[in-house]
Amino acid sequence: MEKKNLHVAVVGATGAVGLEMIKTLEKRNFPVGKLTLLASARSVGKQLKFRGADVTVTELTKDSFAGIDIALFSAGGGISKEFAPVAAQAGCVVVDNSSAFRMDASVPLVVPEINAADVKQHHGIIANPNCTTAITLMALYPLHQAFGVKRIFASSYQAVSGTGAKAIEELERQVEQVVRQRPVTKEVYPHQIAFNVLPQVDSFLPSGYTKEEMKMENEGRKIMHHPAFRASVTCVRVPVYRSHSVAVSAEFEKPVSVAAARAVLQKAPGLDVVDEPENKRYPMPLFTSEKYNCEVGRLRADCALDNGLCFWVCGDQLLKGAALNAVQIAEELLK
Ligand SMILES: NC(=O)c1ccc[n+]([C@@H]2O[C@H](COP(=O)([O-])OP(=O)(O)OC[C@H]3O[C@@H](n4cnc5c(N)ncnc54)[C@H](OP(=O)(O)O)[C@@H]3O)[C@@H](O)[C@H]2O)c1
Repeated sequence: MEKKNLHVAVVGATGAVGLEMIKTLEKRNFPVGKLTLLASARSVGKQLKFRGADVTVTELTKDSFAGIDIALFSAGGGISKEFAPVAAQAGCVVVDNSSAFRMDASVPLVVPEINAADVKQHHGIIANPNCTTAITLMALYPLHQAFGVKRIFASSYQAVSGTGAKAIEELERQVEQVVRQRPVTKEVYPHQIAFNVLPQVDSFLPSGYTKEEMKMENEGRKIMHHPAFRASVTCVRVPVYRSHSVAVSAEFEKPVSVAAARAVLQKAPGLDVVDEPENKRYPMPLFTSEKYNCEVGRLRADCALDNGLCFWVCGDQLLKGAALNAVQIAEELLK
């Protein structure tokens, strides 16, 4: 693909991820010649800033993709299913943030720090992984390369912005309602999220796990090229605006010491080790928000697993779990 003056589209430009995509394209100086911003009919005429200029949002239709080189999709799975193949047919490369194509064998599922080479296998659509999976793998994959991961047990602490713009408003509104002792209203989540935690992210499967929980094993196997990887996960929504955190207990083939793990993690791309418990320094979502790198800490030998290591990883899911990873994939296309 030509490396300059690309015509780039953001589908779902007005959403939580879409807005970050626009900012990330600008910040990373992606070679955008023209930017087309697409959303629903509700947003037509809205102006969003890109490189200091106003860009007007237009309505997504099947004719939106003529002449577009790369389209970053983040408007939900239904929209991706309907419009991504149309865009690919029109000759545009789609980087899709939804779960619609992630497990499709003909669609690469990519975290550039892990399996960048898979980008080259695309047939018009490349999938961006689930945010919790991407953030976990930023720490797990380098450890897997060194020690061979067998399985993990993990719990996530997922921010409300992972559900989208309406969920951020819901947390804000409910905090105010609680503080002012008014009745709490719910629109997005089945229960009050302010001053609460919800042990449900996504819908339940017959196994009792949620769909979100199984993404770690399914997507993790595909991204790491590790079909035997196993993951038992509990996904939890917490009243945090931004950045997901994951507590992981991992079991490896080879013995793993904390010192050896730390040495591996210190060299891992896109990851900072923040692990000084004696100084109360460890990763926290407040401090990984709006930051490109994920952070890992609380490293310790797992007392209940052989060859086990516990760690705590945090990352901005709007960035590494979505917009940043999508733009990094687009950058790979230009290499
Ligand atoms: N939030 C995250 O951290 C995260 C992370 C990874 C992946 N994702 C995925 O990214 C996608 C978007 O998530 P989000 O959090 O950004 O959601 P969001 O804040 O609710 O934004 C949704 C976007 O989709 C647009 N849209 C909705 N219906 C549409 C339609 N019929 N035609 C065209 N555009 C339409 C919306 O436009 P209007 O403003 O016009 O309604 C808006 O721009 C989802 O597939 C989600 O699973 C999100």
